[in-house]
Amino acid sequence: MAARTGKASLVGLIGQPVTHSLSPAIHEYWMAQHGIDGTYIPFRHAPGAMPELLRALRTLDLRGFNITVPYKSEMLAHLDSIDPEAKAVGAVNTVVVEKGRWHGLNTDGSGYLRHLQASTSKAQLQSCIQESLVLGGGGAARSIVAALMRGGAQHLTVCNRSYEKACALISHLQPLARGTRLSALPWERRQEAVPKAGLLVNTTSLGMEGHAPLELSLDAMPAGGIVSDIVYAPLETPLLAKARARGLTPVEGLGMLLGQAAEAFHAWFGVMPEVTPKLRAHVLAMREAA
Ligand SMILES: NC(=O)c1ccc[n+]([C@@H]2O[C@H](COP(=O)([O-])OP(=O)(O)OC[C@H]3O[C@@H](n4cnc5c(N)ncnc54)[C@H](OP(=O)(O)O)[C@@H]3O)[C@@H](O)[C@H]2O)c1
Repeated sequence: MAARTGKASLVGLIGQPVTHSLSPAIHEYWMAQHGIDGTYIPFRHAPGAMPELLRALRTLDLRGFNITVPYKSEMLAHLDSIDPEAKAVGAVNTVVVEKGRWHGLNTDGSGYLRHLQASTSKAQLQSCIQESLVLGGGGAARSIVAALMRGGAQHLTVCNRSYEKACALISHLQPLARGTRLSALPWERRQEAVPKAGLLVNTTSLGMEGHAPLELSLDAMPAGGIVSDIVYAPLETPLLAKARARGLTPVEGLGMLLGQAAEAFHAWFGVMPEVTPKLRAHVLAMREAA
C-alpha cells in the first residue's frame, strides 16, 4: 500500500448504508498501484444527519467523494457546478473538489459504456446497440439510457414495472436523445421486444441474491445479441446463464461498478486506472470476506 502522509489526498463515499461498499477496496488498490498518497473513507453517519455530514465535509480538504443511494439526486442541490449529462440524468455519483468548489459528475453511465465496450467487439456493439431494450426505470436505468444514446442507439425501449416511470424517464431524457428514438413498453409486454433487441440490459433488481429471477425467455433474441445484467451478486445471474446457454454474449455487472470507479478515479487523480482480472479477483475476495 502507498505510504500515507499528512498530505494524503482524501476521497470517500456518502450514502446510507456504506458499510458493505466495495469502493474502498477498488480505489485503494489503484492508489497503491499508482503510488498515490491517499485514502478512501466510507463516511458513515447517524440516521438523518446527511445535512450535518455535508457541512462537516465542506470543512475537510477533500479531493472528492462518491455518492451512492439514496443521495444521488438529493446531492444536486448541494453542488457549486454540475456536468450537463449528470444534470440531465438528475443524479450525481461523483464530486470533484477544486479550490473548495464542489463539481458533480455522473460516471455510472460512462463507466457502464466503458465496460460494455471492453466486453464486446466494436463491430458487435455498433450493430447490437442500435436496437436496445432496457428493463427497469430506476436510478441506474437513467444513467444507462443516457449512455446508450451517446453510444449510438437508434431505437431504445424502456420497459419498467411502473409504466408511468418508464414514460417519465423517457420524457426526462428526451433532450439528450440526439437521433435516438425512445419508446416505453408495459412490463407485461416485455417479451414482445426481445425478437428485435440486439442489446438487452437488465437494470432491475430481479436476479439479485435474495430477489426473484427475471422471467424472460431469450429464445427469440437475434443471434449475436448482447445480454447485459447490472446485478453483480451473483456474478452470473440466471439471465446471464440463459444468455450463455443460447450462445448470446453475456456481460456481467461487476464491470459497471469497476468502470464507474475508474472514471471517478480519473476525475480525482488524472490517471485512468486499469480494470484487470487481478483487480476483479481482489474485489471479489473482499466481497466474500465482507
Ligand atoms: N453494477 C453496478 O455498478 C450497479 C450500479 C447501480 C445499481 N446496480 C444494481 O441495479 C439494480 C437497480 O438499481 P437502481 O439504483 O436503479 O435501483 P432503483 O432506482 O430502486 O430501481 C429498481 C428498479 O427495479 C425494478 N424492480 C424492483 N423490483 C421489481 C420486481 N419485482 N419486478 C419488476 N421490476 C422490479 C423497479 O421497478 P419500479 O420502478 O416499478 O419499482 C426499478 O425499475 C440493483 O440491483 C442494484 O444493485 C448495479
